[in-house]
Amino acid sequence: MTPSAAVYIDPHRGHKAYNRMLFGQFLEHFHRQVYGGIFEPGSPLADADGFRTDVIEALRELRVPVVRWPGGCFVSAYHWLHGVGAGRQPSYDKAWRVNDPNTFGTDEFVAWCRKIGAEPYLCTNAGTGTPEEMSDWVEYCNLPEAGRWAQLRRANGHALPHTVRYWSIGNENYGDWEMGAKTAAEWGRFVAESAKMMKRVDPSIRLLAAALADVDWTLNLLRQAGQYLDMVSIHGYYDPLWQKDEPSDYATCLLRSGQVEDAIRLTEQIIGVAGLEGKLGIAFDEWNLRGWHHPVGNTPAAIAARDRNDINATYTMADALFSASFLNSCLRHASSVQMANMAPVVNTRGPLFVHPNGVVRRTTFHVLALYANLLGSHVGDIFVDSPAFVHGNLSTPALDAVATCDPEQQEWQLALVNRLPDRALHCKVLLAGSPLQGVHRAQVLAGDSPDAYNDIEFPERVTPRSVEFTCSDGMVLLPAHSVTLLKV
Ligand code: AHR
Repeated sequence: MTPSAAVYIDPHRGHKAYNRMLFGQFLEHFHRQVYGGIFEPGSPLADADGFRTDVIEALRELRVPVVRWPGGCFVSAYHWLHGVGAGRQPSYDKAWRVNDPNTFGTDEFVAWCRKIGAEPYLCTNAGTGTPEEMSDWVEYCNLPEAGRWAQLRRANGHALPHTVRYWSIGNENYGDWEMGAKTAAEWGRFVAESAKMMKRVDPSIRLLAAALADVDWTLNLLRQAGQYLDMVSIHGYYDPLWQKDEPSDYATCLLRSGQVEDAIRLTEQIIGVAGLEGKLGIAFDEWNLRGWHHPVGNTPAAIAARDRNDINATYTMADALFSASFLNSCLRHASSVQMANMAPVVNTRGPLFVHPNGVVRRTTFHVLALYANLLGSHVGDIFVDSPAFVHGNLSTPALDAVATCDPEQQEWQLALVNRLPDRALHCKVLLAGSPLQGVHRAQVLAGDSPDAYNDIEFPERVTPRSVEFTCSDGMVLLPAHSVTLLKV
């Protein structure tokens, strides 16, 4: 018997605009994200600046609004000055224990962002770095000509400021794995002093700082530095593959979907306790179902193991549906979550796989493309009635849904995720109490199995299909393991 669910859209309960920076991306100097990913001078597919044009074209399909760079753990010993100007010397990357040629630095990153149409977002070094180094970076990027660092940018061929609006202080400095890790008390003070100096250079920047869904760390941060910040940064990876690359199966992955909203709610509560609700937002500025694979050590074998991130069979409909649920969670919290950055944008666990002769749009690419191009600008109020998807002793709703609309509520776009791996789901849709009737167009991403994926040999095994639903009494049949964007 086909299980059934229902979605009740109530247009009278208002709707709110969400920030498109929820569709943001993250780029780190790790494995083949930069070198051999977006930046490959000498490739026949690269432009005069060395950027892969097939990558630029693909990312423009996602209308990426913002990209965070250069890390991630990499940034906690990164000195931006090593990556600008002539005569750059390689650096030993103490985070990932490889040589970084520094041929891709601030100016290249900003230029690449402009080519894909995204805002650059710079994450500063709060590990070995200083407030002064951070504020000097702001000067290099944003002051027209005052100061030696703005003059250096001009000398490097960039007369106009880069106008970098988004900056964060540090990356995961709470974690022992991070270089320059700090205590909660140290962190609050350090962020306050860094923020003061950065804002003295350019008071218009939007400032974030590394946080997490933990009261001690984040409440201390907010009490000491909240007045200087616009958002707090949290991260989430839900299939821990850092040491052992043994990807969890479809059901195990999807049963973890609820952890996203748990983290958002706790962070919202901490912001509320600090008295900053409505003043301070949340940036989920590293997220992915899959943790990156980089076993400890710097032996050739440990470094070579990172190639396992490139196994495209890893990225199945589990990744697609988890990512859709993740974005739905952020959309449901649109008042607080103002940015999210998939980690990362290319290769490793990203939506786009880049190889010497082209690119492969992984399943998650299509979810991002559907959301970025089809959803309305506002999130509406809906109630979802769904059967459970049970796996072992865990359960999660079979249906995960959001309703979006234009400001005038003339057109609705629903994002409907059927998490059931083996059964279609009857979904009754009611708008202002009336069941949908007639023909409604949709885009459906389902794949031929829960474990379907795209690869070089079959790059379009999983792609969205255009579908017309003929609704009677509001019924829409959602295929098993599918994401449906339904236009109403
Ligand atoms: O596994 C990659 C790392 O995950 C990023 O560099 C860091 O920010 C996060 O811990």
